[in-house]
Amino acid sequence: MARTLLVTSALPYANGSIHLGHLVEHIQTDIWVRFQRMQGHTVHYFCADDTHGTPVMLAAKTRGLTPEAMVELAHAEHEADLKGFRVAHDLYYSTHSPETQEIASELYRHLKAQGLISVRAIEQYFDPVEGIFLPDRFIKGTCPRCHAVDQYGDNCEVCGASYLPTDLIDARSALSGAIPERRFSEHHFLRLAECEDFLRQWTRAGTIPEEAANKLEEWFKTGLTDWDISRDAPYFGFEIPDAPGKFFYVWLDAPIGYMGTFKKLASIQGLDFQAGWNADSSWELYHFIGKDILYFHALFWPALLHQTGLRTPTQLFVHGFLTVNGQKMSKSRGSFITARHYLNHLDPEYLRYYLAAKLNGSMEDIDLNLDDFCARVNSDLVGKYANLASRSAGFITKRFAGCLATTLSPEQEQLIASFRTAAPAIAQSFNARDTSRVIRDIMHLTDQANQYVDQHKPWELARDPEYNGTLQQVCTTILSLFQLLTVYLKPILPDICQRAETFLGLSDLTWEAAVNHTLLGSSIQPYTHLVSRVDPAQVAKLVTVPQT
Ligand code: MSP
Ligand code: ZN
Repeated sequence: MARTLLVTSALPYANGSIHLGHLVEHIQTDIWVRFQRMQGHTVHYFCADDTHGTPVMLAAKTRGLTPEAMVELAHAEHEADLKGFRVAHDLYYSTHSPETQEIASELYRHLKAQGLISVRAIEQYFDPVEGIFLPDRFIKGTCPRCHAVDQYGDNCEVCGASYLPTDLIDARSALSGAIPERRFSEHHFLRLAECEDFLRQWTRAGTIPEEAANKLEEWFKTGLTDWDISRDAPYFGFEIPDAPGKFFYVWLDAPIGYMGTFKKLASIQGLDFQAGWNADSSWELYHFIGKDILYFHALFWPALLHQTGLRTPTQLFVHGFLTVNGQKMSKSRGSFITARHYLNHLDPEYLRYYLAAKLNGSMEDIDLNLDDFCARVNSDLVGKYANLASRSAGFITKRFAGCLATTLSPEQEQLIASFRTAAPAIAQSFNARDTSRVIRDIMHLTDQANQYVDQHKPWELARDPEYNGTLQQVCTTILSLFQLLTVYLKPILPDICQRAETFLGLSDLTWEAAVNHTLLGSSIQPYTHLVSRVDPAQVAKLVTVPQT
């Protein structure tokens, strides 16, 4: 059945660099997308920078730039970083786009017409020096519960209390140090409680992981409160159509940025934008997100779509957080690793392989242990996978002018067939994003292939011309096994596998065709190096060099 899939990774904020945490998500999405494309499905994979909000506005100011100029610089950097890891978006756009502005305004009017927007004044802290209302994290003071000093405006890192910024003792603006004033201002709210019935049903309809649905249950219990969707000028964002001086809160236009980005993609590629978003759309829509932004994607976003008569996501794929050597990535510990920093030292496919080996489709956190990273890449990719080709290809090239055998023994045929039989289970794991299982299965096969090499010792056969025929068959068997392993690894290691395909004389085949392909009677190109050993000295540089 022909399927069309819209797939997104969450939109990275424009006020920071792409780091290894973002890459967990983009690499996970990219592997899934590549796998679905190999199945022959039509996949539109897109993402964008999330450009709006106070932090971006202030970061630009600190750098002496306009927010527009800063988000443009960030965009170029993010796009290059993600490409560096072979993340194959069809489009990497920006939420600061005419498409997103137009859709955000349209959806807002729609919500308003249905009476789902309410307006009321709220009291907030205002920095009289900077002239702006302060988001919670820009206010610091003494915890009202444990009296720890220098705590953020929403919760205490010492005792864990959550409170309102107005409860802080000795509150100060983190920007200017000024004593903030309390000021009233009108805000626009989405009346989320009106959507409760729909949301209760939607979140239990197989759209989100069960562990996530259970978490949402707590939110339903405490009751859905109105969602504040506006911010006061000065704010870097889109002005609300009928409310001069008021802007859409960044989290309102961010998910709408998925639509705006697809609209742009549709205009570039001549696709039908509406076909993807109409309530009766037959296309599937998948969002890959981290567990920290579940609330926005499982409540606000479906509510917004549903209430405006649009389709809702088919599924949310939620992953956990990345730690480095067992700890939260931290700038002060030197373990905050940016994408660029990694690329300056190491091959991107090592990380793709390692993260794939760790991700199992659940919301559990995953750890990048640098010793384990070296060991796995060197043992699995270099020692086991590439080894199969490097130990057999030379004989075929030198002794048989690159030609593979035309027939094999029944045992050899059987061994190859058993590797083929593994395809459906591996495909199922890919589909479930359980790449940890995919890699376990592949490595199990790779071990079997290496056992075959050790048992049949091509280098010994090569010493006696009498065994010429056997040598050709043994090497053909090894390369046939290697070819199947290459198909299975391809969504994870696109470059290495492409080099392997070129060497095997194969073109870019679909999963099905590649699994059923036979190398018998074909010829190969001289073996070229596929993957180098990881140098632990380079890996050590990831964490010891101060980050910028
Ligand atoms: N801009 C919002 C998303 C808007 S989507 C409409 C945002 N940006 S972010 O840059 O903070 O995070 C982007 C994605 O990266 C999120 O899915 C987040 O969970 C993920 N990660 C950020 N740090 C991470 C780790 N350390 N580990 C794994 N993923 C993490 O949220
Ligand atoms: Zn406290």
